[in-house]
Amino acid sequence: MTHINPMKPYLATIAGVRDLASGIKLLQVRLDDPAVSSSFDYRPGQFVEVSAFGVGESPFGITSIRNGNDELIEFAINRVGTVTEAIHRLDVGDKIGMRGPLGNGFPMEKFKGKNIVVLGGGIGGAPLRPVIQTVLQNRSDYGTLSIFWAARSPDLLVFTDEYDSWRAQPDTELQLTVDQATPDWPHKEGLITTLVEQVAPSADNAVSITCGPPIMIKFAMLTLQKLGFQSEQNWVTLEAKMKCGIGKCGRCNLGEVFVCTDGPVFRFDRVEGFLESFV
Ligand code: FES
Repeated sequence: MTHINPMKPYLATIAGVRDLASGIKLLQVRLDDPAVSSSFDYRPGQFVEVSAFGVGESPFGITSIRNGNDELIEFAINRVGTVTEAIHRLDVGDKIGMRGPLGNGFPMEKFKGKNIVVLGGGIGGAPLRPVIQTVLQNRSDYGTLSIFWAARSPDLLVFTDEYDSWRAQPDTELQLTVDQATPDWPHKEGLITTLVEQVAPSADNAVSITCGPPIMIKFAMLTLQKLGFQSEQNWVTLEAKMKCGIGKCGRCNLGEVFVCTDGPVFRFDRVEGFLESFV
């Protein structure tokens, strides 16, 4: 979609807000201009820059997939700073600014026929939900789907209301773990990497897709390597200090790559050399 001034946000209206996890809200928004809204096409892994008027702008991974004529765009907001606090105060009917879709997204076409291993850590799982939804909605195009989902504590797990429907799909498994369990937590306690190592998904004909804090990505890559995954089989989506989102401000570069325009999705071999500086 061409956009005349890429720094100028589109006006959008909040159509829904719900609590996703402790301190994390899911926003559903609709772009005000019907022509822009109907042509706002995006892929799993892309992001938007959202502005709270008078406060500032921040990037958020899109957590929805484009579903027929449903033009609602969803993203998860973790309350961590002034912009996210301002967005948390908004409600249905309020206006925000939105630029995008930005970044490259996951090559879901290339993943067809492969077994998919998803590793989502905390709110890092949010931009992986569209990957899961794409696989589940086109189930016969993909092999097995193994989802490893983690958070620091049970109240920080995102999309808990969707777990049963994920599990109910053929050839799909969901493995949950938290760093600190509560007495009623029925699943695993411990690091996501420990769980992945225990379950040991096969690297044969597989791709892995990971999103989470940099330290988690680092150890996830080491674990996957132990299981026989080559760097070329591993895909990551990186968080970085982004500002413009369009390759102009120089805030997000990792070595020679710009996270905002070359990423945020990378095949791991492309960023492997930069990971230490990122962690
Ligand atoms: S965010 Fe400005 S160059 Fe990437």
